[in-house]
Amino acid sequence: MAQRGNWGSSIGFVLAAAGSAVGLGNLWKFPYITWVNGGGSFVLIYLICIGLVGIPILVAEVTIGRSAQLSTVPALAFHTRGRRFSRFWTGAGVIGVATGGVILGYYAVIAGWSISSFAQCMVWSTSGYQAPASDAFGQFAANGPLQLGLSLLFSLATALIVERGVHGGIERASRLMMPALFAILLTLAVVACTLDGAGKTFQFLFTIGPITWHGVLEALGHAFFTLSLGMGAMITYGSYMKPEESLLRAAFSIALLDTLVALLACVVLYSILFTFPTAEGAIGSPVGMLFIAMPQLFYTSIRGGAILAPIFFILVAFAALTSTISMLEVVVAFAVDKLKWTRRQATLVAATVIFVLTAGCALSMGASPALTQFSPFAGAHEGLFGKLNHVLLKDKTGLFNVLDHLVSNWCLPIGGLLITFFAGWLLDRRLQSEQWKLDQASLAYRGLRLILRYLAPISIGLVLYGVNQS
Ligand code: TRP
Repeated sequence: MAQRGNWGSSIGFVLAAAGSAVGLGNLWKFPYITWVNGGGSFVLIYLICIGLVGIPILVAEVTIGRSAQLSTVPALAFHTRGRRFSRFWTGAGVIGVATGGVILGYYAVIAGWSISSFAQCMVWSTSGYQAPASDAFGQFAANGPLQLGLSLLFSLATALIVERGVHGGIERASRLMMPALFAILLTLAVVACTLDGAGKTFQFLFTIGPITWHGVLEALGHAFFTLSLGMGAMITYGSYMKPEESLLRAAFSIALLDTLVALLACVVLYSILFTFPTAEGAIGSPVGMLFIAMPQLFYTSIRGGAILAPIFFILVAFAALTSTISMLEVVVAFAVDKLKWTRRQATLVAATVIFVLTAGCALSMGASPALTQFSPFAGAHEGLFGKLNHVLLKDKTGLFNVLDHLVSNWCLPIGGLLITFFAGWLLDRRLQSEQWKLDQASLAYRGLRLILRYLAPISIGLVLYGVNQS
């Protein structure tokens, strides 16, 4: 077998995996869904989901990958060799890999916005702030060439890092960017705590109020997205992990870092928004919060904002980049392990094919009417198509929205369901206890096994049912 890459150290794995986990999901999506779901209760339920379902599935993925020392598809094949449903698992793995490509396809568009926001802030910081026109963001989103250029830049950066390999590319980039990211976020959080709105923020985050059933399900779905679970990214990253390192400790650290970043992002964003109530108008969408309200507030209302604003968008860019590399790595690792391509070939082909999708998504923000209104069921409201449109897509339109909805509400939860099932029912006890370094008679071992076999699959089943009922 060809020499496989390895993380240089256990902190290398933790940082790379935390890099994958910490992303636009934490900075862009979590503060928004927490806001609309009423704060404290949602946060509490989210934390329970991370602990009871997220961490166990993270453990499951890393276990599958590390014990096989192979990326997603060959790892699943390896564990089911000679069994009845081997083909099924290989197929599921291929769908997972494809899902990785699709996520990258649309994620790169928003990731690209961090570049333009950074550039915009640099201009404002150096030559003075000018309030943008009220429809500036709409025009920006509908500017086709600009959207293509930004997402291309981001995709290129992603491909360049992945091409350099697991140790020299991904790990090195994560070691550089993750500490910077934490430092920036902590600095911003300290500044945020000095604002008048800080008190209200903590009140909001800690007050337990009513929560809807839909909110519970949303919390669980987001736990998947934010920990990069459900499509094999952590199987692939885990396959580069050395056998002697503690898998459970790593999984716990990754989840902890990810959760801290999500909560700190709320502290930063909410403190600013609570301090300046006029900004609350911009909270119609996560887009509004991060890319419209924040830059304006930095310049109009916060001391030192001219310095903090560009730094803030470096943070967003770093967070997004360490996530996009994990999505591309899943596809590249598949081509290298399974199709025996060289890393360079694999990166070039995968990145190019995925960029075609990215281009479509970039133009679906207003530039191309056909892509902006795209609906696979032609927007039907009646008949079979109407039903499919509603149940599968919640009547979403636009290539970007359709893909995001399909991935978050269907592909990742189904993928997660299959993975817990796999790790709970198909891996044998000896392998599990070896990988987890836990005695089979220990309470921790039995608890984890119970969660993987029953609790996690049942909870995910509820998400699938609930999200698509309401
Ligand atoms: N976890 C990342 C975020 O929160 C997104 C992400 C990276 C992801 N890799 C993934 C999501 C794999 C699902 C699957 O932004």
